[in-house]
Amino acid sequence: MMPSSSLSTTSSALSVGPVGRDGFTSPRRAIRDSSKINRLTNSNQPPPSYHDRHDPKTTKKDLRTLQRFLEVECWKLPQIRSLDRTLLAVSDACKQINRIVQRAQTDDLYGAALDPITGLELEANIQGESQQQLDVLCNTIMLRAFCGTANDAICAVASEEEPLPRSCADVMGYDLLASNNPLVVGGKTNIDGLKSSGGEGGGEFVAVFDPIDGSKNIDSSLPVGTVFGIYRRPDGGRKSAKYKSPDGTYDLDGFLQRGTNLVAAGYCLYSATTVLVLTLGSGVHGFTLDPDRQIFLQTHTNMRIPDVGPLYSFNEANSRDYSEPVQKFLKNMKSTGKIGGKKVTARYVGALVADVHNVLINGGIYGYPATRDNPNGKLRLLYESAPMAMIMEQAGGAGSTGYGRILDVLPPQPKWRKVTTDQEGATAAQDDCSSSDGSSSSSNDEADNWDEEAGKGIHVRVPTFLGSVENVFELDQFHKYYGEEGG
Ligand code: F6P
Ligand code: MN
Repeated sequence: MMPSSSLSTTSSALSVGPVGRDGFTSPRRAIRDSSKINRLTNSNQPPPSYHDRHDPKTTKKDLRTLQRFLEVECWKLPQIRSLDRTLLAVSDACKQINRIVQRAQTDDLYGAALDPITGLELEANIQGESQQQLDVLCNTIMLRAFCGTANDAICAVASEEEPLPRSCADVMGYDLLASNNPLVVGGKTNIDGLKSSGGEGGGEFVAVFDPIDGSKNIDSSLPVGTVFGIYRRPDGGRKSAKYKSPDGTYDLDGFLQRGTNLVAAGYCLYSATTVLVLTLGSGVHGFTLDPDRQIFLQTHTNMRIPDVGPLYSFNEANSRDYSEPVQKFLKNMKSTGKIGGKKVTARYVGALVADVHNVLINGGIYGYPATRDNPNGKLRLLYESAPMAMIMEQAGGAGSTGYGRILDVLPPQPKWRKVTTDQEGATAAQDDCSSSDGSSSSSNDEADNWDEEAGKGIHVRVPTFLGSVENVFELDQFHKYYGEEGG
């Protein structure tokens, strides 16, 4: 046997020794010594992975890549053809976030986010939570994924982490890239050029996302996720906008639509495996990240949620603050003990993406109901409830507020208070005359409460129930019989 002191510093020495009594190399020993060589040589090379040591053809499944899936599916659907590269960029962003999440315990990078100018801790985000570097990092990654694709399919984005939407021109800092940017004249952003090009660069779609859902779970090494949705702007952005931002660089019209106008929705779950679940409006498909090759492979084709399932996923600690219909529904479920022939089971991870994924796979119901303190619950319509509801419906399940379909909920439309100038030049604030369906009959050019009204619209919350049709139907029935709106 080769003495360890004579081990060569090149890994090719491995093919020679160590040899066992039968004259063959012992694989276990070889593995042990290969990592030893790496240590001895101080090599940056990681020890060979399982697949480096085995013929990948015999162990890897022959699965379609996400890239191929997108090429084919987006080509089949001309109305979203331009989204294939965007969605691929989003999947790359998910890979980056996956790495960041996995390194959160070992890398000394993820404290509270600091203001780059003052060096002080950033103020709480729009949810009132203090922002962590990790939140800021993941938010930036998603912003760039949606806005950085060369074909400019997306014109503006809204993030759960930011108070207002942003045009992609703003996100990509076009004013910093003067030489590449047709909208920049003389080293300054040509705001008129931006406005005349449609404000947002003319893309047909807007994107909404929650970059890192359930981020509190990271400290305890539990699952987190990313959720996103893509809306087609009214008439693809050709129609003149009702709600144009005061600086003219984006409009709200694409964001303040019903979920029925989503053209794509997805989530990525960072858990035991990293899985990207996606719908383009014709079924739901799941792609698991191959950890060796770092590519998403289609592991779930045409996912279907069972019509009825045993899981219920609620934060039951809040149950005394739930409305009567929800309390009665849960009580009934537990006292019956069985549903669809299976024993009822509670599961709650505390990250929407993880809990909903579990319900999608096994059947049942996820709920974040209204509580006494939060009459619309906690989840955000745009970044969480609507994309998840689209996925559920596309998988044969349902998404409800208890009183109606989540995808039918129209976000609050702005009510402008305008600054008007009378003949003497004095200014006065006045409310506009929004009609009952929320549409405004006049322009918002002089609105002085843009931030407040835009924020209300894009960050609206909604009671959320998602899952198997039978389970969600039953929940709705409890609302119908015991609820205030339908009873
Ligand atoms: O984004 C909101 C969120 O973090 C969800 O991911 C999660 O389902 C929920 O909050 C958990 O809230 P709670 O701790 O109140 O149950
Ligand atoms: Mn969230």
